[in-house]
Amino acid sequence: MNVVVLAAGMGKRMHSDLPKVLHPIAGRPMLAHVIDTAKSLTNAHLTVVIGHRGERIREAFTDPSLQWIMQEPQLGTGHAVRQAASHLNDDVPTLVLYGDVPLTRIDTLRRLSDLAGDGSTLAILTVMMDDPTGYGRIVRGADGKTLAAIVEEKDATAEQRAIREVNTGILVAPTPALKRWLARLSNDNAQGEYYLTDIVALANDDGVPVVAMQPSFVWETAGINSKGQLAELERQAQKNEAERLLAAGVTLADPARIDVRGTLECGRDVSIDVGCLFEGRVRIDDGAAIGPYVVIRNAHVASGVRIEAFTHIDGGADASVAIEIGKDAIVGPYARLRPGARLGSGVHIGNFVEVKNSVLGNDSKANHLSYLGDATIGSRVNVGAGTITCNYDGANKHRTIIEDDVHIGSDVQLVAPVTVGAGATVGAGTTVWKDVPAGTLAVNQKTQVEKNGWKRPVKKAKV
Ligand code: UD1
Ligand code: MG
Repeated sequence: MNVVVLAAGMGKRMHSDLPKVLHPIAGRPMLAHVIDTAKSLTNAHLTVVIGHRGERIREAFTDPSLQWIMQEPQLGTGHAVRQAASHLNDDVPTLVLYGDVPLTRIDTLRRLSDLAGDGSTLAILTVMMDDPTGYGRIVRGADGKTLAAIVEEKDATAEQRAIREVNTGILVAPTPALKRWLARLSNDNAQGEYYLTDIVALANDDGVPVVAMQPSFVWETAGINSKGQLAELERQAQKNEAERLLAAGVTLADPARIDVRGTLECGRDVSIDVGCLFEGRVRIDDGAAIGPYVVIRNAHVASGVRIEAFTHIDGGADASVAIEIGKDAIVGPYARLRPGARLGSGVHIGNFVEVKNSVLGNDSKANHLSYLGDATIGSRVNVGAGTITCNYDGANKHRTIIEDDVHIGSDVQLVAPVTVGAGATVGAGTTVWKDVPAGTLAVNQKTQVEKNGWKRPVKKAKV
């Protein structure tokens, strides 16, 4: 099947510098949804008709198999498809989709394509609307089965405007006939445009049967012209995703309070509390529990992990270097993992602990108020409250190495580059600026003095 995606329209009502079809739905440009749907339907080449800020749209897609066509000026939907005509293979039918209609289900398009058959029938996707204002009306033939014409709102009689069945714009046409009809379109209408919809009347002239079918859900054919409609379809996309997760056995505390902007894969018995946001590629293995108001981007959460409330796990923009959280680890509440964080199994990261570009071996713990940056930490290490790796000298970053079984007391600064050998202990309040040999105790020489008779300052009385 040939696929033509129309995306040349201006999108004026978005009031945005970003081209309309690049506005994201569930974290991806709406045009990317349309392209992905088309690709899972057929392996034929896709033609995308662009116009307004077309270069910017083209730059947002790297897929070399996409054929981009400029439509300049934009003289209507029929004119748009005509620009793609020379790229369409006559041996297979042509499906027309819209870059601003992102949520059409593959199953619906498959049914439409089945209805069009091998190229003898023109099949149109229509919907019934309580308020059909603005849409092309479906005028049925005397038999009520076949379609006689599609009449645009602005060209319709009062009687035609009362029709509640409207054109979604999506159709499958026999390709050689489509090319003939496109060449015969005129712009003699209220908008002075070449209407793709006029091919219905032309098909009737040619004796080609025109049939219609409806999608299972009205939102499948809803287009986006405004930020309001964008927000509505975003909700719908999130609802669909929540239903998919529930059907796969994931426990969602509230399906209305989860957002997935990318792909979320879950194992068995995963539970997700309210208000969580998943971005990029996130994989959560069996039995893991995600607490409320957690944000996770590009990360792998192993089985049995508990992520506690208000934790921010940010693996950065590149999904291929995702954060790793090992089996049965506990992270949060209020923890922050940044790109390059890799936690072994049984690791505990507690409140107000920030981990960046650091590896923690199995069963190591940093439970309170720490910054661990550019550190390689072994297994069974305990990092005391308030410990900080001083990784940045103002010009360069340096690594801190803490070997297995080290015990770091509270409020320790590790001035990198520095190594603490296996089994060593670092006393509370120590600034470590040279390597600590394995098995030793490192403390700074500090003395405590007591001053007798010292008085605390007293607050002055206000005059
Ligand atoms: C079109 C249909 C109408 C249908 C409605 C559904 C026609 C003449 N009318 O109306 O029957 O009910 O869609 O939403 O087809 N586009 C181009 N180049 C152009 C014009 C449009 O690429 O020259 C693209 C737009 O980017 C958009 C789509 O085609 O994605 C539809 O254009 P739009 O102006 O929204 O069509 P309507 O007039 O609303
Ligand atoms: Mg229009």
